[in-house]
Amino acid sequence: MRFTLLTLFPEPIDAYFASSIMARAVQKGLVQYRCVNIRDFALDTHRTCDDAPYGGGAGMVLKAEPLAAALDSVGAAGLHTIYPTPAGRSLTTALVEQLGAHEELVLICGRYEGIDQRVIDLYVDDEISIGDYVLSSGELAALVIVDVLYRHLDGVITRESLQEESFQDGLLEYPHYTRPEVFRSRGVPEVLLSGHHERIREWRTQQRIDKTRRARPDLYEAWLSRSAPDGKE
Ligand code: ADE
Repeated sequence: MRFTLLTLFPEPIDAYFASSIMARAVQKGLVQYRCVNIRDFALDTHRTCDDAPYGGGAGMVLKAEPLAAALDSVGAAGLHTIYPTPAGRSLTTALVEQLGAHEELVLICGRYEGIDQRVIDLYVDDEISIGDYVLSSGELAALVIVDVLYRHLDGVITRESLQEESFQDGLLEYPHYTRPEVFRSRGVPEVLLSGHHERIREWRTQQRIDKTRRARPDLYEAWLSRSAPDGKE
C-alpha cells in the first residue's frame, strides 16, 4: 500500500515511517510512502502558505494555491484523497476496511484553522475525523489513519495478534502479563501459569467481558444484545 502525505512539517512524518514496525514494513516493501512539503509549492519569496480568513475570525487558513500545486504534483486528482479534520465522518472499523481497499491514498495534513474550502471541493474524496476533539497537528491525525490501515496488510503483524485485539468482536482486550512472575508484590493470575489452555481461554474471555462492561458500557450493551438477544450472558 502506498501513502502520500502533504504537510508543512515533514519531520514527524519521516520519523514515524523510519520507526519500529512501520520501518520494517517499508523495508520489506509492504508500504511505500511519499512526503511532500507544501511549502515547496509556495509562490512568493517568503514561501507563505497561510492567510487570514475572508469574513474575519480567529486563526489562519492554509492557502489554496500552494496546496493545490502540491496535490497536482502527486497526481491527487486520480487518487483517493483524504483530508483529516474534526469536521469529517468518524473513523470506524468499517471505514478502515473501505479505505484498505485502495492501493494508494493521499492525505492532506492541515494546520491552522483549516484549509481553503475550494481545495476540499476540488480534490478531497473523504473528510475523516479521528475523534471528537481538536488536534493542533493534522500530521498526528493523518498518521493515525496510516497506522490503523497498514497494520492490517499481510506480513506486517501476525493474523493471531489481529484476531485477538480489541474491537475485533466488539469486546476490549484481556490483560497481559510477562516475566517476572512477581512484580512489587503483585503476582500473575494463577490460571495463566497453569498451562491449561481451555481454562486460560475462558479466563481471558471473562476478563474481556468485565473490562468492556466497566470501561465501555456502550460497547458492552451492543455486544450483549448481539450475543444474547434475550438479555442473558
Ligand atoms: N485535525 C485536528 N483535529 C482532528 C481530528 N479530531 N480528526 C481529524 N483531523 C483532525
